[in-house]
Amino acid sequence: MASEKAAYAALAGRHILLGITGSIAAYKAAMLCRLWRTAGAEVQVVMTPLAKQFITPLTMATLSKNPILVEFFNPENGAWNSHVSLGEWADCYVIAPATANTLAKMATGVADNLLLTTYLSARCPVVVAPAMDLDMYAHEATQQNLHTLARRGVRIVEPGTGELASGLSGKGRMAEPEEIAAFVNELLDGGRKTLAGKRLIVTAGATIEAIDPVRFISNHSSGKMGYAIAGELAARGAEVTLISGRTALPVPPGVKRVDVLSADEMYEATVGAFDTADGAVMCAAVADYTPENVSQTKIKKGDGEMYIRLRRTRDIAAELGARKGNRLLVGFALETDDEEAHAQSKLEKKNFDFIVLNSLRDAGAGFRGDTNKVTLIDRAGSEELPLMSKREVAARIVDRIEGLLTR
Ligand code: CTP
Repeated sequence: MASEKAAYAALAGRHILLGITGSIAAYKAAMLCRLWRTAGAEVQVVMTPLAKQFITPLTMATLSKNPILVEFFNPENGAWNSHVSLGEWADCYVIAPATANTLAKMATGVADNLLLTTYLSARCPVVVAPAMDLDMYAHEATQQNLHTLARRGVRIVEPGTGELASGLSGKGRMAEPEEIAAFVNELLDGGRKTLAGKRLIVTAGATIEAIDPVRFISNHSSGKMGYAIAGELAARGAEVTLISGRTALPVPPGVKRVDVLSADEMYEATVGAFDTADGAVMCAAVADYTPENVSQTKIKKGDGEMYIRLRRTRDIAAELGARKGNRLLVGFALETDDEEAHAQSKLEKKNFDFIVLNSLRDAGAGFRGDTNKVTLIDRAGSEELPLMSKREVAARIVDRIEGLLTR
């Protein structure tokens, strides 16, 4: 018992909502619930109607020390089981086991039971632990649903390989309770909610400027730095809207992503969201120029040279800088020469509170890698950070944001 407490230290006092769906693996949910309770977490359990066939509400109520929620209304007294307040109560919503059916409904937004409506209204990180037969798990439909959920920031605890209830052997058995408990512990670890109640926008990734239906102009930005910052802000309790150009990255837990393509689309989405925000972090590599005319049909090659006339795009950061008031605005600069001077001039021109300078001359800094070396510059001076992982750089940038927003 003492060792469980130590192993899952981040769970003490945390609110975990456990969703149970109709799978043989539901018996493992009992163990999971017991592990969390021993670690000092508060647990509420929501079950699908079918899940009751696999494990009794009495078992789960006894282990969780809370009544079990299944219906939208309590059939005895008509009291409403509010999925909204459940979602607000939870620090983490863990659906274990998650059947193929429930994953499909989550992916498509079906809301025909309390477990699903709670998923749709939850603002906390959501974790699923799939459990099903190997062919169901491997089926393209299930894989696509998992992919959709991962893109939206749902965390997946991969099933294990072994003997399945069907008698077949393969990948599909739910991860063991200890593994799920450790996963949630890691997710909630360091969850200092110092930015609770703050709304922040992060722009990230490269914009895509269409030339014709087939070709475009873009750049090498991977979006990793912006995604790391969005994840760090959300982990500290901020409400984060990530306005993202094209990237292959999963949405960090708790972050709301808005997908855009062009600089114009990013401008509209970002300026629109800024009114109700406490600040914005401008990480996106926005194209400065876009084709003046986009051909509706594929442009055919000719014998001679061809020219594309480009027009300037609107500067999103400068627009936010002009209307910022006392909101926070953080910019990025990627330079190859005379770095500090260029960054200083952007700081002033766009009215940033501080700017994060990357120099392409520094080894380990810049686009695609997982490391970065940056200098933080504000009106009081500059702070050069050593080479670190993008995650650590994000934490340092968010430390500064936190200092400015909570002083
Ligand atoms: N930015 C923006 N909208 C644009 C262009 C840039 O929001 N249309 C933001 C970037 O996200 C970044 C900062 O402005 O925070 C970068 O400034 P910028 O002057 O655009 O950098 P470069 O495009 O590299 O400028 P230059 O060509 O002058 O070096």
